[in-house]
Order: sequence, then C-alpha cells, then structure tokens
Amino acid sequence: MKIGMIGTGGFSRKHATILTGMKDVSLQAVCGTSVEKAEAFARQFGTIKGYDNVIEMLDDKQLDAVYICVPPFAHGRLEEQLIARDIPFFVEKSLAVDLCTASNIKALLNEKNLITSVGYHFRYRDTVRLLKEALSVHTVGMAVGSWMGSMPLVDWWRDRNRSGGQFVEQTTHLMDLVRYTLGEVEEVYAMETDRLMAAAYDHVTAADVGSAMLKMKSGVIVQLSNTCMLPDGVSEIGLRFFYSGGIAGLDGSGLAICTTDGETKQKDKVDPYVRENEAFLHGVRTGDTSHILSCYEDAWYTQQTANAIGKSIQQKKPVRLGEE
Ligand SMILES: NC(=O)c1ccc[n+]([C@@H]2O[C@H](COP(=O)([O-])OP(=O)(O)OC[C@H]3O[C@@H](n4cnc5c(N)ncnc54)[C@H](O)[C@@H]3O)[C@@H](O)[C@H]2O)c1
Repeated sequence: MKIGMIGTGGFSRKHATILTGMKDVSLQAVCGTSVEKAEAFARQFGTIKGYDNVIEMLDDKQLDAVYICVPPFAHGRLEEQLIARDIPFFVEKSLAVDLCTASNIKALLNEKNLITSVGYHFRYRDTVRLLKEALSVHTVGMAVGSWMGSMPLVDWWRDRNRSGGQFVEQTTHLMDLVRYTLGEVEEVYAMETDRLMAAAYDHVTAADVGSAMLKMKSGVIVQLSNTCMLPDGVSEIGLRFFYSGGIAGLDGSGLAICTTDGETKQKDKVDPYVRENEAFLHGVRTGDTSHILSCYEDAWYTQQTANAIGKSIQQKKPVRLGEE
C-alpha cells in the first residue's frame, strides 16, 4: 500500500515510524511547509520524495491513503484535496480550530463513501474496552477528568487562533473518551483564566487554566479541568468514573477499578497507536471499517463539544449543543 504523509513534525514521525515497520506498507511521499523540511523527513524514513505543495504531491504519486498530521489551524484545504480525489485519509486530532471547517469537511464526506480515521487513540486501549464493559452493567453518576501538564513549546500551540487552546488541542482526548463511554453531550458550562503563562512567555493567547461541566444526554454529569502551567515533566492526565459498581480510574498507567470486593488494576498490553494504524489500513485494504473506532463523522461531535465549551467561555453562560 502506498502512503503519503502531510506534516513533518513530531506526530508525522510517530506514525511514519509505525508505518515503516509494517508489511506491505510503503511510505512514498511527504509534504511539509518547505521542500527542505520534507526532504529531510523523507531521507529519515526512506521515502521517495518531499514536497511543499499537497496538490503537486497528489498529482505526482498514486497514493492509496494519506496521513494528515498538522496543527489545528492547517486543516480544511488538505482534506478537500483528498476528498476530491477519493483518497482515504487518517487525520490526527484535533479536526480544526473551529467547528465550521470541520462541518464543511463532514458535508463533503457525506456525499462520498470514503474511509477516514481520526487519531483518538485512547479508544484503542485494552483498558478502555475493559472500562466500557465495567460501566455497561451499571449506572454511572458522574465522571471527573483532568489534563494537567506543561505548555508545548511550539509557537502555534500557545496561539489560541492556531491551536484552539488547551480544550481543543489536548483535553479533546478526554471529551472524546467521555463520548465513547457515556454517550453524547447535551449542555456545557465552562470557564478559563490566565494565571501565569501569558505574563511569563511571549505571544501566549491560550488560557493556562480551565474547567468545564458537561451534562450528558443520559443525565450523567462530567467535569473536565485542564492546565498547561505546570513545570516540565510534571503531569496528571486521566478520567475517573463514579458509578453504582464503584470507582473506575483510567490514567497513563492503566485502569484501576475499586469495588466492595477491593481494587483491581489492569495495564494496556497493545500500543493503541499501532492498533489505530492497523485498523485504518485494514479498512483501506479490505473495505472492512469495523475496526476503525473513530471516523471523521464521529470525531465531528467531539469537535462540536470543544466548540460549545469555547462558546460558553466566551459568553459566560451554559451552551446547549447544536445551539452554539
Ligand atoms: N494523538 C496524539 O496522541 C497526538 C499527540 C501529539 C500530537 N497530536 C496531533 O498531531 C498534530 C500535529 O502535531 P505535531 O506534534 O506533529 O506538531 P509539530 O508542530 O511537531 O508539527 C506540525 C507540522 O505540521 C506542518 N504543517 C503545518 N501546516 C502545514 C501544511 N499546510 N501543509 C503541510 N504541513 C504543514 C509543520 O511544518 C510541522 O512540520 C496536532 O494536531 C496534534 O494535536 C496528536
């Protein structure tokens, strides 16, 4: 299978490393913001050619699938090109900075039967499957999640217009996990503040502290908080569910379930990034998309949630989804 890559940064490298280790998969082309960067990336992964223009890359190469690993602000035109040529694509979260860009792509996809996959890799964790099983036979009361860490040092991340801010860029993973385990969101109420980073660093327009309440359609209440003002190397990322069977906590180390019988701990056995790549490529190869756990249309609802949180922060009031 001939694969193209758009983006030459950290997550293009992550996917390229996985792809180059797979049988029957050949990374054929890479497109970056300059030919020099693309060619340096290409040399690293033995790809044939580097481009700085996606149209040129697609005209030049017959690709079976393309990976899009660019920051939130760079989405829209790239996806349009792939849809126009019926090329299946894997796109890293987040779909965009705003909902409008993602809605346009979703509308174009509605007219086609194109395979897409979105990089919400938490869904591919063994422990998330176990978590869903545990919750499925109980009543969930609430969930509390946190994405607490330091600010990524790339320029685009600190700029709200280019990253969308921490809820859009990082906490989106938790929003997606909440949707995956608890169903759709009905209403959100959120607030943010600037405690430190805007004063400490240049050009910081993304808030460094935020918290959002989500009311799910089922009635479950969820609270998601985030900060990006912690020192490097210090972080706390996870989601805890409080339900009729006990407490289930998912974090980077695995899943811990506490019931009246005591606590059990589970670790992930398979790398979820490998699994999401295999699921997508299996879909492209065979047409069987049943292993893809997040397609573009599904991920749009996660983007809608992030967008509603942004509106709530702006308007300083609760926002119902669909009315944002
Ligand atoms: N799923 C995950 O766990 C995970 C982890 C990290 C990053 N990501 C996502 O991956 C995406 C990329 O992140 P990253 O860490 O690689 O960022 P990065 O800053 O390291 O790299 C971004 C790359 O995109 C390129 N780019 C920007 N606009 C482009 C365009 N129009 N055409 C071609 N290339 C363009 C830049 O030149 C750069 O090489 C982000 O959306 C991020 O949220 C996902």
